[in-house]
Amino acid sequence: MQTILITNANLVNEGSSRPADVFIKNGRIEKVASSLTNQAADTVIDAMGKALLPGMIDCHVHCRDPGLEAKADLHSETRAAVAGGVTSIMEMPNTKPAAITNAVLEDKFALAATKCVANYSFHLGASNSNMDELLAMDPKTVCGVKLFMGASTGGLLVDRAQQLEDIFSQVKVPISLHCEDTNTIRKNEKDAREKYGEAIPFSEHWKIRSEEACYRSTALAVELATKYNSQIHVLHLTTAKELGLFKAGPVEGKKITGEACPHMLWFSSDDYDRKGALIKCNPSIKTPADRSALREAVKSGLIDTIGTDHAPHLWEEKQNPYGSAPSGLPLIQSAMPTAVELFPLEMVAEKTAHNPARIFQCLERGFIREGYWADLTLIDTETPHTVSKDNILYKCGWSPFEGVTFKSSIAATLVNGQLAYIDGQVNDAVRGQRLLFDR
Ligand code: DOR
Ligand code: ZN
Repeated sequence: MQTILITNANLVNEGSSRPADVFIKNGRIEKVASSLTNQAADTVIDAMGKALLPGMIDCHVHCRDPGLEAKADLHSETRAAVAGGVTSIMEMPNTKPAAITNAVLEDKFALAATKCVANYSFHLGASNSNMDELLAMDPKTVCGVKLFMGASTGGLLVDRAQQLEDIFSQVKVPISLHCEDTNTIRKNEKDAREKYGEAIPFSEHWKIRSEEACYRSTALAVELATKYNSQIHVLHLTTAKELGLFKAGPVEGKKITGEACPHMLWFSSDDYDRKGALIKCNPSIKTPADRSALREAVKSGLIDTIGTDHAPHLWEEKQNPYGSAPSGLPLIQSAMPTAVELFPLEMVAEKTAHNPARIFQCLERGFIREGYWADLTLIDTETPHTVSKDNILYKCGWSPFEGVTFKSSIAATLVNGQLAYIDGQVNDAVRGQRLLFDR
């Protein structure tokens, strides 16, 4: 395996930034020092003027593989991931068949080994009746459990009260939660249908998938987690009101953590008239005031991670009317640029890499440390890029960010010391590894 020397980087890691060189050997970070110019290497990358961050560990990705490959697959979406500076993904179980047994999960791991350009793990999905599977899961080789406490794409809803109690009390790995109260949503949907018939405007989405629906479900999750001391990670927070259920402070010692997603940090209810189905997702994008509160919560530490909820659907499907346009947006290629736009680089590293690694106890990833895997993202903070059809790598070929100019660009991405992306090109020969967990 080739050795790589990165020189003159602005190394952004563990709360500080400093000039440094990094030497990579056997896929790992061999040495970090202020100067390594005497070090021989097969490849030298001059990173002058660029920021070197630990690669993003995206704990919330839908790749549609297996079963829904017309929308996306593990190869296409991990190509987009590395082009966006993401080096590891934790994928979701609403594939076909749904990943609610360990046997199906292992089939996904086998598929990923042949297809993923980034490192990977897969959540085991909770259902109303798979407690035995959840308890049989190997905590050292599987990232965690995904629990839909509200119905969304794929129909993996857990709504049996006893099953919820069992999951919160017995599962010992992180439980990633989709929180929306389905009864509240159904009632709002019925009201909207009475008012608009089938011609519900997309601008109603945030009132149907409402603040109350989110708050009720998140409050229940926090109540159950507090009762049973479970470790929960509440995904895609969308409202200021829910933030009152979270505590600021370092992830270490917290059992209840939260995620913000790029689309909720960027768009607001003001954008539905312009973007329509392209920003329809569950939970919904809420008001400008909610967006401001989410941005502040990332800064204050009420929100711990940025994950994408990358959820590609076909352009043609998104042309449907409100009732049949699927929820979810492709996002993974623009998450790091969005974060760099909104937050200081040290905070970006913390929310996209350090904290995901801490919450999921990733083994030897998420930090730029000697001995750790060389999962790295080199960001050119001086060269803007505009999202357009020419540079979108998603299989579905569109992005809600089309036309947006970000002030930074991803210059290079290394996965286990391999150059997976550089100069605008993905190295298709690179394959990621299965993530391991120190628990
Ligand atoms: O908008 C969403 N899309 N929310 C989800 O919960 C699922 C996701 C998808 O898989 O399309
Ligand atoms: Zn999701």
